[in-house]
Amino acid sequence: MSTVFLNGEYMPKSEATISPDDRGFLLGDGLYEVTPFYEGVPFGFKGHLQRLLRGLCWLRIDYDTSELEAMHRELIVSNGLDSAERSMVYLQITRGAAPRTHYFPDGDVTPTVYAYAKEWSRPADDVWDQGFTAQTVPDRRWSRVDIKTVCLLPNALAFQDAKDAGADDAILVRDGVAIEGAHQNLWGVFGGTVITHPVTGHILPGITRAVVLEEARTAGMKVEERPIQIEELAFADELFFTGTTGEVRPISEVDGRPVGSGGVGEVTRTLSDLFLARVDQAKAAEQVRVS
Ligand code: PDD
Repeated sequence: MSTVFLNGEYMPKSEATISPDDRGFLLGDGLYEVTPFYEGVPFGFKGHLQRLLRGLCWLRIDYDTSELEAMHRELIVSNGLDSAERSMVYLQITRGAAPRTHYFPDGDVTPTVYAYAKEWSRPADDVWDQGFTAQTVPDRRWSRVDIKTVCLLPNALAFQDAKDAGADDAILVRDGVAIEGAHQNLWGVFGGTVITHPVTGHILPGITRAVVLEEARTAGMKVEERPIQIEELAFADELFFTGTTGEVRPISEVDGRPVGSGGVGEVTRTLSDLFLARVDQAKAAEQVRVS
């Protein structure tokens, strides 16, 4: 039985109940974050927290986040995940329960804060080495997807469309631009230059994206943050996604056509190795922190 966190208390998941008046349920009026842990060590926590704080500010939800890191760590430990190779904490904060109005509720409403922990795994090496397939689908999301709201219906529909087409994932296309995946950022390698969409209201600024950008630049790769036109996908030497539970994920096929010369490209493999080395550094830093 998993232990979850709800409004300041730890409890068995079966005992966690949320009001039917919750604005997260009725209106999608809330935010979420997914933070990865490696052998019990949080990775990129500061980045996830900063993105959450920005979202809280934008939604004008007043919530004190000072205890969040301790709560994340406690959930990992109480669910026996401190030695799991990979785990994560899902956190959701909504405006809270109040009689349904489109405007913000009158008076003080306490935000609903819910979190759970679970294990996840990286695909086996032989699966990863083959790469993953993607299908282009229209991006039907709003123009502030940089705010990580729980309104994920367009993402879910896009993913389902890709799945129905037999692909592993979706590439969302808006105004002729290959924006990002349904739950991951998109990257291309063109003639040795690594390209990903700039941070605008049309992408989620991924924490994994930020780490990979830093690693690519430090390694001396030529990097550009600019939109990738859908026509360019056919000429990419390599394509890959990045995200919390996807890490660096090679794309070997788009809309049934192979990417580059097929298989996993050198740049993708190098960036994946550099990303995993950053995870190892975080684990080593934690050893120093606790000793
Ligand atoms: N997805 N783009 C979208 C649309 C996302 O939903 C996500 C994260 C990312 C990658 O962000 P990060 O590197 O910070 O995980 C990009 C989360 C994990 C999810 O929905 O489960």
